[in-house]
Amino acid sequence: MCGIIGVISKDNNNVVPDILNGLEKLEYRGYDSAGLAVVGAAGLKRIRAVGKLENLINKLKINPISGAVGIGHTRWATHGKATEENAHPMLTRDVVLVHNGIIENYKELKSDLLKKGYEFTSQTDTEVVAVYLQMELDNGLSPREAFQKMLRTVRGTYAFLAIFKARPDVIFCAKNKSPMAIGFGKSICVGSDASSISASCSEIVYLDDGDYAEVTKDGATFFDDGFNVVDKPRVAVTDDLINSGKGGYSHYMIKEIMEQPSAIRKTLLGNDVPQNFFDKVSRILILACGTSYHAGLVGKYWFEKHLRLPTCVEIASEYRYRSPVIEDDTLVLVITQSGETIDTLEAMEYVKKNNNTCRLAAITNVLNSAISRLAGFVFHTEAGVEVGVASTKAFTAQLTVLAKLAFCENFELLGQLQNLPQACEDSLVLKEDIDKIAFRIKDCSNAIYLGRDNLYPIALEGALKLKEISYIHAEGFAAGEMKHGPIALIDDIVPVICLCPSGSMFDKMFSNIQVAQARGKNVIVFTDFVGAKSFDKSVKKIVLPPINQELYPILYSIPLQLLAYTVTVLKGEDVDKPRNLAKSVTVE
Ligand code: G6P
Repeated sequence: MCGIIGVISKDNNNVVPDILNGLEKLEYRGYDSAGLAVVGAAGLKRIRAVGKLENLINKLKINPISGAVGIGHTRWATHGKATEENAHPMLTRDVVLVHNGIIENYKELKSDLLKKGYEFTSQTDTEVVAVYLQMELDNGLSPREAFQKMLRTVRGTYAFLAIFKARPDVIFCAKNKSPMAIGFGKSICVGSDASSISASCSEIVYLDDGDYAEVTKDGATFFDDGFNVVDKPRVAVTDDLINSGKGGYSHYMIKEIMEQPSAIRKTLLGNDVPQNFFDKVSRILILACGTSYHAGLVGKYWFEKHLRLPTCVEIASEYRYRSPVIEDDTLVLVITQSGETIDTLEAMEYVKKNNNTCRLAAITNVLNSAISRLAGFVFHTEAGVEVGVASTKAFTAQLTVLAKLAFCENFELLGQLQNLPQACEDSLVLKEDIDKIAFRIKDCSNAIYLGRDNLYPIALEGALKLKEISYIHAEGFAAGEMKHGPIALIDDIVPVICLCPSGSMFDKMFSNIQVAQARGKNVIVFTDFVGAKSFDKSVKKIVLPPINQELYPILYSIPLQLLAYTVTVLKGEDVDKPRNLAKSVTVE
């Protein structure tokens, strides 16, 4: 979380527009505040604003600053509230710094600096690093010496960018666990991701943990964690790294929902399962967080049913702290859109350290991400850049990869998968029907989602989508569990959203719906043409196109995303940037 960007113009142009452009691309990483600093004629200049980037842009219109070298930051608050004092960049007399990550030993460093008479203006862990650099400059160290000494002193996760008054031509960069890419092209840029710097860069270098770099308009010098100069490979910027904007839609989320048929089609084209992939695999362990965890839950249904491999799905943040037993010959499958969720990354490291017989594979949307570099094998969801904080197309693309894996020995189902993009396309035209349902939900305080079998995880995901963007409290339940507690919540107001297509679970689910209807008046059913015939007019129905029962999780995700989206728009909330959330979660 938090996005950082640094830009050096090769032609002495003002870099503020490029920094703002990069920050706009990075806002998915946090939007509690934004700020930037440049080296101008009058030394280091900084400007910051609370809230979204537009506030900073408005402030800059009144108080413009400019310079040919600069850094910027968009914040997801960890230490200290979302105030202007806590906004980055952190500025001292001679140095300015932005940071993504958490400094774990900041308290001891701060108390030491306070004893030495240094003052602080914020509650952040980051300011301690800026003040520490200032102290070392005051002690007579050069900027490089101060920066290197700081890297030996701080503990924690970081991507740092620093500019020193004494070296206004250089951006000092360092990374540990937080992502950083350096781009080369019209300008030299440093950013938290490739998309933020792709507008002016054609080639990129990804820094590894422990690396640091000194960047000038002539290029970059890279150092390893022993401060030895090293070469780093450059990779070309490709289309999948570029955020191409909203494409005429009012929000990224709806654009990304609409892109699902093509994301699934592209994901189906690649990601062939290597022959013998499951040889010597006795079980599968899936590690993931958030929406990706829900994809993993669907994977469990599929893997056990079709591959007959025992499968366990774990929330990554819990897994690594509970001394789990890691059995030999486990295929560990990590699912992550961003490829950088710290809990998932650390859970993966835990497996690597504790059992070297396990095979590690990742399903990720970001090649070259930390997790894809750590995994032995990578399946790439071809969803393209996903910007909306609530994951949509990346989720259905993850499911598509899981389906290809689970059905790899079943030609009939592999064939059925080819029908998916068209069925998804057909489901998108249901938006008008869903708009009517959204009106029934928008003023509710709670909502219940029910599903069975492979649609149970989709009930969880549908509820997550609604609560994370509309702030309506929503919970998903296995429909058979309703009678053990959730049924107490049903009244005439609470929407009970039921996933009930025809197929082997229809009768059981139908009975659960009858039970809900006997107690409440706001029952909404997502079904197919065959299933719809069993429901009378007292139930509000959304009728989806037919598809093989095994593929329900992918198809039925889409109307639930549309529902969450529409409810949120009706409520006037910020769909793409829901409060308190960030898309890429690099704190534990
Ligand atoms: C955040 C995002 C979710 C995502 C989760 C896991 O909470 O808002 O959309 O599912 O992180 O992220 P990952 O990138 O590992 O899939």
